Amino acid sequence: MKQALEEILSAFQRVFGGQPDLVASAPGRVNLIGEHTDYMGGLVMPVAIDRQVLFAIRSIPGDLVTGYSVDFGESVKFPTGKFDPTHPCRWLRYVLGVLKELDQLEIRPGGFEFIIAGNVPQGAGLSSSAALEVATATAVLNLIQHQLSKREIALLCQRAENNFVGMACGIMDQYISALGIADHALKIDCASLEFEAVSAAVPDHTWLVIDSGKKRGLVDSEYNLRRSQCQAGLQWLQERLPHLRQPHGLRALTPEILETAASGMDPVLLRRIRHVVTENTRVENACQALRHGDLAALGANLNASHLSLRDDYEVSCPELDSIVEILTRLPRTIGARLTGAGFGGCVIALVRDETVQASIAAVQNEYPKKFPNSLPVSAWPIRLSAGAKTIFSSTPTLKSGG
Ligand code: GLA
Repeated sequence: MKQALEEILSAFQRVFGGQPDLVASAPGRVNLIGEHTDYMGGLVMPVAIDRQVLFAIRSIPGDLVTGYSVDFGESVKFPTGKFDPTHPCRWLRYVLGVLKELDQLEIRPGGFEFIIAGNVPQGAGLSSSAALEVATATAVLNLIQHQLSKREIALLCQRAENNFVGMACGIMDQYISALGIADHALKIDCASLEFEAVSAAVPDHTWLVIDSGKKRGLVDSEYNLRRSQCQAGLQWLQERLPHLRQPHGLRALTPEILETAASGMDPVLLRRIRHVVTENTRVENACQALRHGDLAALGANLNASHLSLRDDYEVSCPELDSIVEILTRLPRTIGARLTGAGFGGCVIALVRDETVQASIAAVQNEYPKKFPNSLPVSAWPIRLSAGAKTIFSSTPTLKSGG
């Protein structure tokens, strides 16, 4: 983080001269378990990771905003209060979406200069976009000393993504980026928006992220399709089971009730609903397993989650299946599953410390034999990190903000 901060400060000096008023940082995430459940009011259990987006900002007089992205080497300029959702610069849309949501709450920072930098890989399913949104909101709010709770920040950033960017995502990514706690996963109830912090740094074990290198091509259209299939499935069930006719009605459904109620249901809709219902149970199980140090149960639930995403939810792909298969064949792997929306991106695995290198080597050795044209896989251990915060401030009064 220290190096990333030095780099953004020197980029700021180079592009604008002098120092920013403050730098905010927001992490990417890995979801340990609870996939494709958030938008159905289900349970998720993500962790914030030690990869962040940094947002350096300085107030300037007037009504212009000038920005620069270190990663894209691109400069932008726009008047305050102008939010163009079709702006050709795609990364800027996330910033504009957040500024627009802030504007709707009459939170208006006036003119400013900003620089964005970061090391969350893009398109890898580690939520670089949520990190950018949350970093933007944190920086702007701290700049003008406006307090919003972290949960409000998460919801505002989700609205930015839903309304402005046009991705109908759930709340998980923005929530963990804003509220993450070091060494912990958050078990988030996406119906009530309450969370429990679950100690997830497993002694003698490492959480390993393996990036398949496959970009998540289909994700937007297939994601929206899965959401609408879940809604249609729920509606079908609600017509037959009145106790499900309530907000987040799926939570009142158990796998057993589903199997008896589902006769005559469209088989695709049944599979989608079955994934969500059984995944909620797996999150509860995995949470208990983490609390009790029951690694066998934890691993079984991670592995079962992958199979359900592959077979019932159909969001995996041969590349992710292959990485999971290579890892779960190794005797010291506790469990492995795809993480994030699917269709490419990353796998998360829990392995014993002493087998980290061997696990990475096994994937890097076997995977290219099956997928000779794929990009090289990269893999690294993650540190479970804290959520968004201000990491630099040139004036002591700005230091207080979260
Ligand atoms: C994406 C979305 C999240 C969640 C996951 C799947 O990351 O942004 O809201 O739905 O996919 O679990």
